[in-house]
Amino acid sequence: MSMTSRLPAALLDSPFMRACRREPTTYTPVWLMRQAGRYMESYRRMRARVSFLELCKTPALAAEVTVDAVERLGVDAAIIFADILLILEPMGMQLEFSAGDGPLLHNPLRTAADVERLQEVDAAESLSFVMQAIRATRAALAPNVPLIGFAGAPFTLASYMIEGGSSRQYTRTKQFMYTQPQVWHALMALLARNAAHYLNTQAAAGAQAVQLFDSWVGNLSPADYRTFVLPHSREVIVSTTPGVPVLHFGTGTNALLELMREAGGDVIGVDFRVELDNAWQRLGDVGIQGNLDPAVLVAERPYIRQRVREILRQADGRSGHVFNLGHGILPTTPVDNVRALVDDVHELSTREPS
Ligand code: CP3
Repeated sequence: MSMTSRLPAALLDSPFMRACRREPTTYTPVWLMRQAGRYMESYRRMRARVSFLELCKTPALAAEVTVDAVERLGVDAAIIFADILLILEPMGMQLEFSAGDGPLLHNPLRTAADVERLQEVDAAESLSFVMQAIRATRAALAPNVPLIGFAGAPFTLASYMIEGGSSRQYTRTKQFMYTQPQVWHALMALLARNAAHYLNTQAAAGAQAVQLFDSWVGNLSPADYRTFVLPHSREVIVSTTPGVPVLHFGTGTNALLELMREAGGDVIGVDFRVELDNAWQRLGDVGIQGNLDPAVLVAERPYIRQRVREILRQADGRSGHVFNLGHGILPTTPVDNVRALVDDVHELSTREPS
């Protein structure tokens, strides 16, 4: 029996799950990357009491933040409150979220020996707080709202491990892959095994779909993506539990879309640097997620509505569109604009059931 057939009908037939399978929906489902975050007053109040890592590691609080965002916004899916970098701790990396500099890895990878020291992760044990948060969230969410689990894709995680934090040019990452290709591939293979196992553990704990975040992969040339990344992203995706849709997301990927499609995924996430209709025309029979520029949400309400209309026009009623931003919500975004966006998407996309 597949995973899907065991899901309650309310979840199985939800607009988001239907769109992941490219089935028709009565309106276009919408959720937003970073829908729970600093732009929300309730989140800032929570963060005044606990650090970001503590929040991620306290299942009751992570579940509260996840569900709170869904209820305030009226979105069609929840995403578990966590971070792509959490898996790096049990792998052996020293992770810190600093207030000023963003994420820091205090023991960045330099040599083959550094990579050999890294651990396989037993997610049920080392990331049990994520699984508990998923179970608590699933129990608290409305029965028709799917919960999305997620993991960082091998390239994006490797870049943090090698650079020691965020980067602009990815010089050290590229130097690593060009000068120590065998070590690079060993690192990527380990990240792929860990990510697949982590995603499947999240699905078993109660996530109905999973998103693979390859946020920074757009910094690579197509040839380098094919050689150094594609086999490993594909390995993650082919190893996921059948029946659990995979959303495969990246930014700056205009030159890589066909290759990302080749790597796999039921839905390909695109950012705002590509036209949605152009992306879909190139990708063919696959779902598309995106792709409003998050900066539009700091503009005025009628303008937001106009931009929603434009994206829906490009999607042209095709089955398999999941409305989202091209990247995460910006911290200065007014919550009322996000709520209005969700309403606009629902209202402007409503169609008769066929
Ligand atoms: O989308 C959601 O609401 C779920 C939660 C979520 C977070 N991070 C919470 C978070 C998800 C899905 C992520 C994924 C993530 N984390 C990515 C991929 C998505 C993307 O944005 O491209 C990346 C690259 C990270 C790494 C990361 N985590 C960075 C670079 C930062 C610092 C930048 C920032 O926005 O503060 C974080 C911290 C982080 N992750 C915060 C949140 C809500 C802010 C923490 C805080 O100060 O409260």
